[in-house]
Amino acid sequence: MTALSLPSLATDLSKAQPELQITGGRRLEGELRVDGAKNSALVLMAACLLTRDQIRLRNVPPLTDIVGMGEMLQSLGGQVSREANSLVLDGSGIHSTTAPYELVNSLRASFFCIGPLLARMGMAKVPLPGGCKIGTRPVEEHVKGLKALGAQVTIEHGVVTAVVPGRGQRLRGGRIYFDCPSVGATETLMMAAVLAEGETVMANAAQEPEVADLAGLLIAMGARIRGAGTQTITITGVERLHGADYAVIPDRIEAGTLLLAAAITRSRLRVTPVITDHLGAVLTKLEAAGCRLEHDGVGMTIEASDIQAVDLRTQPFPAFPTDLQAPFMSLLATARGTSVVTENIFENRMQHVAELQRMGAAIRLQSNIAFIEGVAQLSGAPVQGTDLRASAAMVLAGLAAEGVTSVRGLEYLDRGYAGLEHKLASVGACIQRIGGGPAPAERDLLTQGSSAA
Ligand code: EPZ
Repeated sequence: MTALSLPSLATDLSKAQPELQITGGRRLEGELRVDGAKNSALVLMAACLLTRDQIRLRNVPPLTDIVGMGEMLQSLGGQVSREANSLVLDGSGIHSTTAPYELVNSLRASFFCIGPLLARMGMAKVPLPGGCKIGTRPVEEHVKGLKALGAQVTIEHGVVTAVVPGRGQRLRGGRIYFDCPSVGATETLMMAAVLAEGETVMANAAQEPEVADLAGLLIAMGARIRGAGTQTITITGVERLHGADYAVIPDRIEAGTLLLAAAITRSRLRVTPVITDHLGAVLTKLEAAGCRLEHDGVGMTIEASDIQAVDLRTQPFPAFPTDLQAPFMSLLATARGTSVVTENIFENRMQHVAELQRMGAAIRLQSNIAFIEGVAQLSGAPVQGTDLRASAAMVLAGLAAEGVTSVRGLEYLDRGYAGLEHKLASVGACIQRIGGGPAPAERDLLTQGSSAA
């Protein structure tokens, strides 16, 4: 038996793990398109459980997370098919009330199905989603809210079982007060309350644009909802909901990431579409850092030359979003002066700091506070993305770094960004995907025009 020599071992490893290879220092120029919002599309897909009619969702991004949610709905008996940039969902054949562990464990958002499944079927058994790299991700707000709507909820052996007591009974409207404005809990309980008997008031609710987008779809399906996007949401339950044809909002986090690509390369780019109300805090911080922004009603033109340090504190919408903390930190690593970035949402969302340090960033970390002293030049290095947004942050850093950066962890990146390397290359970045085969376009699971089994 011949021992594997190091070079072949290294070759074997590089074959196993795809990576983005970036040669930094290029100015970008042109226009970048923003896809539909991942964190809206995922929860809008779950709403198909609430009706026997067909739902068409337009502007759905081709992401691995979308495939995952499609697999979840199909495991329950739903049908999901892709038609160009739309999904056609049919919940008429829902026959199961039990969500498979491996699907919930790989895609946290699939836990949100517990709300509509319970409202539709009177019962739902969904495994706890478990934690991930950025935090423990508890779901007690979801459980507390389901109980407030009259469900009997138990948690045994890692599975949440929710039942509407009494045969053929409906959930009943109630008052829900969130201890923390959880996005997922707000969305889960909206989908439970729309079919409940009577009125539900949700106080201290999440105000993210994706919550308002879910309300937009549910209202198009016949639900009666007021106040979505504010701290208090009032829902009057209805007997049934009908189908709808609905377009998903643009992805504000992708838009922010693409704007940051212009800022970190000191370029002028047009990013479109951008809904300024969805990115207020981020646009304010980009301007404070020295970027010139001009919105033309649809897209945003950004121009950056000299970037100054700014402080960031992540908080629930409309404050600065946690999902752009890591990407913005890459910019601050190249700014003039010292920035302070505080992560207040997730307990472990600073793993990109060590990777940025490998590229020469001068960052001191004290618990969830990062002190960043901007440097004139980052240097290219092999780095690892540790979660979806940290992977994007490393790509941005690579665009600015001197020399070659290879970014691994594309299994995270592909969850939230469709073809990021192609978009960046189209405006002049020197970036390519090597090893591990092509980017995972959606598998034939969501085949063109025909519904999957
Ligand atoms: C959504 O996650 C997004 N995911 C996340 O995007 C985003 O970072 C997050 O909202 C915050 O904006 C989707 O929409 C699919 P939360 P969600 O419940 O709903 C605590 C990305 O990169 N909490 O609002 O799971 C929790 O621990 C992803 O696209 C409780 O304490 O987030 C966290 O600290 C990452 N108890 C904070 O609230 C609960 O019962 C925010 O969590 C629920 C949450």
